[in-house]
Amino acid sequence: MGKTIIVSNRLPIRITKVDNSFEFTPTSGGLATGLHSVHKNKNSLWVGWPGIGSDTLNQNEWEPLKKSLIDNDYCPVSLSTEEIDDFYYGLPNKCLWPLFHYFIEFSIFNKAHWESYVEVNEKFSKAVIECIEPGDTVWVQDYQLMLCPKMIRDACPDVTIGFFLHIPFPSFEIFRIFPWREALLEGVLGADLIGFHTYDYERHFLSSVKRILRKNVQFNRVIMGSREVVVDTFPMGIDYTKFNQAAQTHLAQKQTEKSELKIQLDVHIKGADDSKLILSIDRLDYTKGVINRIKAFDLFLDKYPEYLEKVRLVMLTVPSRADVPEYKRLKKETDEVVGRINGKYATVNWTPIWYYYRSMDFGDLIDLYMTSDIAMITPVRDGMNLVAKEFIATRVDGDGVLILSEMAGASKELHEAVLVNPFDRNAMADAIQKAIVMPVEEQKKRNSSMQKRLSRYTVNYWAKEFMETLESKATPNEEIGVVKLSDQIVSTVVESFQQAAKKMLLLDYDGTLVEFHENPEMAVPDEAVLNTIKQLTLLPNTDVAIVSGRDNVFLEKWFGNLGLTLVAEHGYFVKEHKQEWVIKGEANNQWKKDVMPIMEAFTDRTPGTFIEEKTKSLVWHYRKTDPELADERVVELKTVLSSLISDNLSIMDMDKALEVVNRQISKGTAVSELVSNKNYDFILCLGDDVTDENMFTSLPSHATTIKVGKKKTDAKYYIEDIEHVKSLLSILADVNE
Ligand code: UDP
Ligand code: G6P
Repeated sequence: MGKTIIVSNRLPIRITKVDNSFEFTPTSGGLATGLHSVHKNKNSLWVGWPGIGSDTLNQNEWEPLKKSLIDNDYCPVSLSTEEIDDFYYGLPNKCLWPLFHYFIEFSIFNKAHWESYVEVNEKFSKAVIECIEPGDTVWVQDYQLMLCPKMIRDACPDVTIGFFLHIPFPSFEIFRIFPWREALLEGVLGADLIGFHTYDYERHFLSSVKRILRKNVQFNRVIMGSREVVVDTFPMGIDYTKFNQAAQTHLAQKQTEKSELKIQLDVHIKGADDSKLILSIDRLDYTKGVINRIKAFDLFLDKYPEYLEKVRLVMLTVPSRADVPEYKRLKKETDEVVGRINGKYATVNWTPIWYYYRSMDFGDLIDLYMTSDIAMITPVRDGMNLVAKEFIATRVDGDGVLILSEMAGASKELHEAVLVNPFDRNAMADAIQKAIVMPVEEQKKRNSSMQKRLSRYTVNYWAKEFMETLESKATPNEEIGVVKLSDQIVSTVVESFQQAAKKMLLLDYDGTLVEFHENPEMAVPDEAVLNTIKQLTLLPNTDVAIVSGRDNVFLEKWFGNLGLTLVAEHGYFVKEHKQEWVIKGEANNQWKKDVMPIMEAFTDRTPGTFIEEKTKSLVWHYRKTDPELADERVVELKTVLSSLISDNLSIMDMDKALEVVNRQISKGTAVSELVSNKNYDFILCLGDDVTDENMFTSLPSHATTIKVGKKKTDAKYYIEDIEHVKSLLSILADVNE
C-alpha cells in the first residue's frame, strides 16, 4: 500500500523569522488542526507552503529549514513574496473565500489574480507529481487548490485523487457569478472523490455541475466520459480523546500547576456566586459574525440588566489574513465596538468583555473551554467550525451550554446545542439568557448526546471514511460489469478486421461520432470524421452504416455522397448503399394528434424545452432546461404518456430527450435486417444511447459491440469517449491500405 500525499496551501506549521532566528508555529484554522492528526498517524507526505516568502531567505538559511521540514514528512512548496501577494492575497482570499461564504460584495474578480491562481496551482501540482510513486493516493484540500486535481490527473491519469472542500459550496445563483466557473469545476472534477462537510454543500456543487457544465449526474455521481466522480458528505470531526484527556488532566491540576490565564479566569468565577463566563473563539474573519455577536451581548446586557457585573464575554480572536483590507477594517471595527461596550458598562470591578487578539497555545485553549459556562459560536457562514466541537469535548463534567449558529456546518450534527440565527440579535440575546438559566441536568443531557457523537465520529474516523471510499472508488470498472476496450483488445479487433472476408461497421451518430449540442442542427460531423468514414467505405469488402435517430434529410445532407448505408429515425427510413430510401413499417401517424398537445403543454411550462417532429416519431428535448426541473418533468411526462399511448407505441428515454415512436421500429430490427443473409464474418457496432442497446442485443454473437462512455450496457466493451471512437475508426481505416 502506497503513501497518502496530502496537499494543502499551508503546511500545518509555519516558519516565521524572529530577529535572526526562525520559529516553527502551528498553523491556525480547522484544516490544519484536523489533518495534522491524520498526518501523524499515517504513512503520509504533506505538500504545502511553509508560510514564508522564499525570497526573504538566503540559501544558507533555507537548507536547514527545508531539511527539518522533510524530516517531518513535509514537502515544502516555495512561494515568492510576489506569488504570496498575487496568489494567496489574490483569488483565494479576495474572491473565492468571500464568494463561497455569500459575501459577494467583498469578492474581487481580477484576471491577474486568476492567472496567478492557475500558475501556483500548477506549481503545487508539479510538486505533487514529482513525489508520486506507484500505489500512492493524492488528497487535495480546499479552495486554494481547486485546479490541482485535474492538473495532476492530466499528468498521471491512473493515480487515485481525492478532493475535500473545507468551506461552504454556495448555491448555484452565487457560484454562477464567478467568471472562471467552468475551469474551477473542471479542475475539481479531476478527482475520483469529492468531499464536503454537509449535504447542502454537496447538492449545491452538483447543481452547479449540472447547470454550468451540463454533465450527466446520476444521484451523487458525475459522469465524465469513462470516469465517474463520486461526490459525498463527510463531516469533519476532532481528535476527541486529545481534547477530553487534556481536560481531565487540567481538572486534576494543583494550584501551582495552573497557567496565568487559568488563575485569572478563576478569579472572575469567584467574584460572584452566580457569575458566568461566555466564551467566543474564532479567527478574526468577517464570516465568523464577531460584530453581530458583540452587539447581541450588548443587547443582552441592556435587556437583562440583572446580569450586569456577573456575566463576562471572553473573546479570543486569532489574527488572520491581516493584509486583506476587509480583515483590517474588521479589526478596527472590532476594537471600536469592544471599546464602546466596555466603556458603556464597565465598573471598577468589572469589564464586560475580555478581548484577546492573538493565538493561544493548546493548554490555554483547554482552560478557556473548560472554565467557561457558555460557548457562543455564531458565525454568519462557516464550512464546519471545529471550535464548537472542541468545547463540547472538554466538558468532562458534562455541563456547559453551546450556543451555535445555524449557519455553521457543525449545526447539522450538534442539534442539541442552542441553535440561533446569527443575524437575529434579539434571539441571540435571549439565547444567552436561556443558556444562563438552563438547568444543569438539561445541559448534561444535551451534551451527553453530542459527546457520544463526537467521540465516535472523530477526525481519524472522518479521514478513514474518506480514504476508504476513495480506495473503493479506485477499484476499476467492475461495478458496471463491462470491460474497457483496452489497447490489447483494440489490437485483437484490428486483427480480426484484417482477416475477415466480409465486414460491416454499424455506427450510431449523436454521442458516438459527434458531441451533443443544445441545438441538434449544430451537432455536425467534422471533416476528420467524414474523411475517416469515406476511407472506410473504400476498403474492400467493407460496408459501413450510420444508424441514427436523426431524420433522413439530415443524414442525406451529411452522408448522402459517401457511399454508405443510412438508417434514419431509428429504422423507419433505410437507404442501403446504392439504393433509394425505403420506408419500413406502417405509416399510421394518427397518434401524433393526441401526443403533440401533451408535449406542447409540457413545453409551455418548462422553459428551454422544445419538440422535434420526425416523420414517424415525436421527440421532446430537454437538454437546455434547468436540469433539476427536467428531472421532475420527465417523470411527469412519462407517467402521462404511458397512461395514454397504445401498445403500438413506445417511449424511448434518450440522452436529454424523450421520444415517442412506433414500437415496430427500432434500431435492433433495422440492423438485424441489414446483416441477415449477408455472411458478414466481422461486425463492429458502436453506440452510446439506450436505443443502441437494441442493436447490441439483436446482432449475432460474433459481433464486436462497443458502448461509448462507461455506462450500464449489453455491449461487450465500453470505450471512453468520442475522441477514442474517432481514433479507433481511423486505425481501422488505415489497416488495410
Ligand atoms: N485554534 C488554535 N489556536 C487558537 C485558537 C484556535 O489553534 O488560538 C484552533 C482551534 O482549536 C480549532 C481551529 O483553530 O481547531 C479553528 O478551526 P475552525 O474550524 O473553528 O475555524 P477555521 O479557522 O477553520 O475557519
Ligand atoms: C480555513 C480554511 C483553511 C485555511 C484556514 C486559515 O480553515 O478552510 O484552508 O488554511 O482557514 O487561513 P489561512 O489563510 O491563514 O491559511
